Amino acid sequence: MKKVTDPIKITVFASGTGSNFRAIVQSIESGKLNAKLVGLISNNPGAGAVEFAQIKGIPYQIINQHRYPDDNVRDNRIIEVLKEWFTELIVLAGYMKKIGLKIITAYPNRIVNIHPALLPSFGGKGMYGIHVHEAVIHSGVKYSGLTVHIVNNEYDAGPIVLQRIVSVYDDDTPETLQQRILVEEHKAYSEAISYFADDRITVAGQRTFIKRENAED
Ligand code: GRF
Repeated sequence: MKKVTDPIKITVFASGTGSNFRAIVQSIESGKLNAKLVGLISNNPGAGAVEFAQIKGIPYQIINQHRYPDDNVRDNRIIEVLKEWFTELIVLAGYMKKIGLKIITAYPNRIVNIHPALLPSFGGKGMYGIHVHEAVIHSGVKYSGLTVHIVNNEYDAGPIVLQRIVSVYDDDTPETLQQRILVEEHKAYSEAISYFADDRITVAGQRTFIKRENAED
């Protein structure tokens, strides 16, 4: 029997449009994801994600280099806010800043990111946004996709939680491929978060293991 558990408290970090952020909010509102969105942290006051949080009345904080020039002070402020909100899982959704070691240490295996390609290919420093899809098409691979992974101190290198495959078509441009992958991201991210929400994931070194839904203990 599936246990009924309290919703996991998630804080989303986003810097841009925030379409993944919106999709997560929708999954929670429709009852598909057993989570409570406790807040949004952004470095960018002009982000679409921030506008959406304002419309929805979701608590948010702008924490950036402009307001907190010192890295250490900035990370401390982020941790302070995360604690105020009783955050249990940090969800990066288009967050353009590297997560400080202090935050990673404070939330071990409790920070996830979504990357719009099949890691460990097409990841690492500089591989973000349209650059990823340009590199994918240039390489000639026939499949791309998305990866949800746990965040560690190296770019795009933490344990993989979930991947989805998306075909690369002959007539794809980086933009068309990006769009098709984004549609899949919106479905996949909530699925990956549910592994944490339902306590179905274990991490062992570089691997993760996901218990089947409704599996007996
Ligand atoms: C997505 O493509 C995600 O994979 C990457 O950043 C993008 C964010 O898009 N990490 P959005 O702001 O959620 O629309």
